[in-house]
Amino acid sequence: MKTFISTPIYYVNDVPHIGHAYTTFIADMLKKYQVLNGNDVFFLTGTDEHGQKIEQSAKSKSKTPKQYADEISEKFKNLWDMFGIDYDYFIRTTDENHKIAVQKAFERMYQKGDIYKGEYEGHYCVSCESFFTQMQTINGKCPDCGKDTSLLKEESYFFALSKYQDKLLEWYDLNPECILPLHKKNEVIKFVQNGLNDLSITRTGFKWGIDLPENFNDRHHVMYVWLDALLNYVSALGYGGQEERMDFWKNATHIVGKDILRFHAIYWPAFLMSLGLELPKHIYVHGWWTRDGVKMSKSIGNVIHPKDVSDAYGVDVLRYFLMREVPFGQDGDFSQKALVDRINSDLSNDLGNLLNRLVGMSEKYFDKKISSKMTTKFYQKELDEIQIILEKLPLLMEQIHINRYVEELWKLFSLANGLIAKYEPWNLMKENKIDQTQGFLGLIANILAKGSLFLYPIMPRTAEDIATCLHVNISSDSFVHLVSNHQLLEDFVIKKIEPLFPKVENFKMAEVDFLKPPQEDTQKPISIDDFSKLDIRVGTILQASKIQKSDKLLKLQIDLGENKPRQILSGISKSYTPEELVGSQVCVLVNLKPAKMMGEISEGMILASKDEEGLSLLRVEKAKKNGSKVS
Ligand code: ME8
Ligand code: MG
Repeated sequence: MKTFISTPIYYVNDVPHIGHAYTTFIADMLKKYQVLNGNDVFFLTGTDEHGQKIEQSAKSKSKTPKQYADEISEKFKNLWDMFGIDYDYFIRTTDENHKIAVQKAFERMYQKGDIYKGEYEGHYCVSCESFFTQMQTINGKCPDCGKDTSLLKEESYFFALSKYQDKLLEWYDLNPECILPLHKKNEVIKFVQNGLNDLSITRTGFKWGIDLPENFNDRHHVMYVWLDALLNYVSALGYGGQEERMDFWKNATHIVGKDILRFHAIYWPAFLMSLGLELPKHIYVHGWWTRDGVKMSKSIGNVIHPKDVSDAYGVDVLRYFLMREVPFGQDGDFSQKALVDRINSDLSNDLGNLLNRLVGMSEKYFDKKISSKMTTKFYQKELDEIQIILEKLPLLMEQIHINRYVEELWKLFSLANGLIAKYEPWNLMKENKIDQTQGFLGLIANILAKGSLFLYPIMPRTAEDIATCLHVNISSDSFVHLVSNHQLLEDFVIKKIEPLFPKVENFKMAEVDFLKPPQEDTQKPISIDDFSKLDIRVGTILQASKIQKSDKLLKLQIDLGENKPRQILSGISKSYTPEELVGSQVCVLVNLKPAKMMGEISEGMILASKDEEGLSLLRVEKAKKNGSKVS
C-alpha cells in the first residue's frame, strides 16, 4: 500500500530544537514501521520560509530573507541527515515548483467560487502568523502564544471557510480516527461548532511571500503564509505540475504539535475540499516539550538543542527518551535526570544486560553457537507468551499510543530477564541438561530478534546492532518470517559486540542555566513582599559609550553611591546618544543577577518605558542623592 507521512514544515526563523526533533522522530518512526510492514512510504519534511515573521527575523540579522532561509533550512536538513531520518523529500516553500502549485491552487479555489476580495480588519499575531478577532485576543495579546498582536486593516482576499463548516463536521463524524488523540479531535469539533469566519488568505504591506497568479493583477498582495505552507503536502507530490506522486495522497498521515492543530484540522481539510482532493486519513497531534513547565520555543529562548543531547548520549537514546517518557498528546518536561534514569534502568539493565548475558552464556557453554531446535520442545509456553505480547503492538502503533507500544515491547525484554532468573541456565548446565540450556538460549535469542524488529522504528541503530549480533536482517521479509509467520531463527554463531548502554554515572551535559522565560501571567496581583524584592535606586550616569558591533547597547558607568561606579549595559542606543546621558540621573534595578553581553559584564538594569516612538528613561522629579531607594 502507498502511504504518505509528513512532519510540519518548520519555520526558518531559528535553528531546530528538541520539539522539532520529537515530531520528526515520530514521523520517521512511523515510516520505519510502515516499511517493515511492507508498505511503500513517502515521507515528507522541509522548511516553511515565507511570511512576515521570517522577513522580520532576516532583517534583524541584516540578511535577505532568502539568504537567511537558505542558511537555516540547511541546518534542519543537516540535522535530519545526521540523525538518520529517512525522509524521501525535503521541501522548501521557496522551491519554484511549490510556488507554481500554490498559485494553481489559488486559481482553482477562485474558479470554484471560494475566494473573494474584501477588507480584513482585526488582530494579527506575527509569531503564530495567525488572525484573531478582538474578542479572541486576551487584552490584545495572542490567545495562543501570549505575545502582542498588531491591529490590521488591509485589503485582502478571503477564503470562504464558513461554507465548509457543515462538511467539516460531517468529516469528523464519519471518520472516528481522523484526529488523534480523541480529546484533541473534540476540541476541534467544538471550535467548528462555534462557527467559522471566512479566512483572510492574502496579505499586503510586506513582500516576502508567493505572488498571486499573474492574471489577478494584484502585485501588492502576497499569499498568506499558512495557505502557502499547508499546500506543501501536495506540491511535494507534484500537485499543479506532473502529479507524478499524487497516488501517495490517498493515504496521508500528518504529525503535528498541538500549536498548529487548528490549521491542519480545519483550514487544511477545507482547502482540500475546495480543491476536490482527498482528505488526510490521520492527523496525529502531540503535546509540547517544556522547560520548567514553559513551552520550549525559539522565540522564548528556553530551547535545548537536540544535537547537544545526541552528542552526549547518542541519537537512539534521545529518540527512546522522547517516545517513552510522555504519553503521546501530553506535554512533557525535558530533564537530563529523567533521561539518565531511563538509560540506566530501561536501556542498560533491561535491554543491554539481556544481550550481554546471552552473548556471555552462549560463549561459555556453546562456543557462541545458538540453536532454536530444542526451543519448541522445552519452551512452547514461553513462545506463546511472547506471541501474545507481540500481537498487542500493531494496534498500539496504529492508534499512536507510542509510549505504551514501548512499554509493551519492554515487557518482552523483562520477560526474558525474568526467565533467566527462573530457569537459571547455569544450573541447567551443572545438571548436564544440555538440550534444555541450548533451547533456552535459543528462546532468549528469538525474543531479542523479534523484539529488535519492533524496536527498529524506535531505536533504529540499536535494533540494527542487536540484529547484526543475531544474524538477522531488519527487513519486511524478516518481519513476515519471524513475526507474522511465528518462525524461529536458523542456527547461527553469535557475533560479539561492545556492551550496549553502559551505566551513566555522571551527567554528560552541562546543566545549562537556561534563560528564564518571561512571566506569562502578568495579570496576577503580587504582594508588597514581592515588590520589595526589587532593589531600585537612583544613580548618576558618569560615562556612556557605544558598544562595537551592537546597534542597541550602550555601556554606562553609574554612580549609585557605592564605593565605585557600576558598569551597566542598556539597550537604549536607538533612543539616546551617549552625550545626552552623561550627568543625568536614572533609576536602576541594582539587585539583578550580573549578566554578560557582547563580552561585557552588566551589573543591573536601567528602567525605561517603551512604545512605538521608542524608549523613555525613568527619572526622579527632583535630584536625589545617588543610591537613594525607589519604593
Ligand atoms: O508552526 N514541543 O513551524 P514551527 C513539541 N511553519 N513540539 C514542538 C515544540 C515543543 N516545544 N516546538 C515546536 C510552524 N514543535 C509552521 C508549520 S506546516 C504546514 C507549517 C514542533 O517551526 C511541533 O511539531 O513553529 C510544532 O507543531 C512544530 O514544531 C511547529 O514548528
Ligand atoms: Mg511555532
